[in-house]
Amino acid sequence: MNASTVTVIGLGPMGRAMVNVYLAKGHTVTVWNRTASRADDLVARGAVLAATPAEAVAASDLIVLSLTDYAAMYAILDGVGDALAGRVVVNLSSDSPAASREAGRWLADRGAELLTGGVMVPENMVGTEASFVFYSGPRAIMDAHHDTLDVIGRPHYKGEDLGLAQLWYQALLDVFLTGLSSFAHAAALLASGGVKAEELVPYARENLDLVKLLLAGSATAIDTGDHTDHGANVTMMSATTDHIVAASRDAGIELELPKAVQSHYRRAIEAGHGRDSWTSLYEVIRRG
Ligand SMILES: NC(=O)c1ccc[n+]([C@@H]2O[C@H](COP(=O)([O-])OP(=O)(O)OC[C@H]3O[C@@H](n4cnc5c(N)ncnc54)[C@H](OP(=O)(O)O)[C@@H]3O)[C@@H](O)[C@H]2O)c1
Repeated sequence: MNASTVTVIGLGPMGRAMVNVYLAKGHTVTVWNRTASRADDLVARGAVLAATPAEAVAASDLIVLSLTDYAAMYAILDGVGDALAGRVVVNLSSDSPAASREAGRWLADRGAELLTGGVMVPENMVGTEASFVFYSGPRAIMDAHHDTLDVIGRPHYKGEDLGLAQLWYQALLDVFLTGLSSFAHAAALLASGGVKAEELVPYARENLDLVKLLLAGSATAIDTGDHTDHGANVTMMSATTDHIVAASRDAGIELELPKAVQSHYRRAIEAGHGRDSWTSLYEVIRRG
């Protein structure tokens, strides 16, 4: 592809990683950050430091934001005046789908287009083969900037609704963060018996492999609403959640995570799913 011109606003670990891969691939990169000193080494590598957000926005047609949340976008862009007109803003900051949609309206009022996105790898993997990013927003804008955005990670375009990228981002992090917390919880439970976390690793890996095997069939059950039990019903598994809570209490460790899971099972039984598969938890969870 031809090297392009891009502005990156926000130079936390993620924004810095993006600037580094763009510079490494020969792109012209303008940067701006609230704390200007975070740009020093990037400028030494060839980035151009804009003096103001307006100057940063004016420097490129494509403006990538990598900020803590969408509130930071308003804090930075509110004062740039007409500079936004005709620009494409790609907000790769984490926030809710509603915040993404609201940002689309705010930018449209200023003559700019928005693509929303969520980077699905840690900053040290940005620009590698493994890197991918969920996007949503106008298809034509996505297509026009696909190659420039591909430098950060493979774009996975999810549709025109600006909320979809964050919905996908939060859904995957729901799996990821809950998985990490469950590992930390299991490690604390074992530690009460004098077992080191490293001993848990091979068993946890096998456990996660089993979870992987279960996913496709579980998705079919969820999508069709057919929660027929195939040998591990809600009542049996509910008893196990009681035992995890009891073991955690005996160990003196926190109870909130196993109690949340216990509550899913108890509510599924109350809703009449006692003899169904665990996938019926979905029916309880989705109703809130
Ligand atoms: N780090 C990762 O591995 C990773 C992975 C996937 C996704 N993400 C997402 O990528 C985004 C950026 O991540 P990060 O790790 O670079 O986060 P970070 O360290 O929190 O950096 C946030 C950036 O936002 C700026 N900022 C925050 N509030 C601001 C405000 N009110 N006004 C102006 N600037 C403001 C900070 O400026 P200052 O430098 O002046 O504080 C900094 O440039 C986040 O949404 C994060 O969830 C990160």
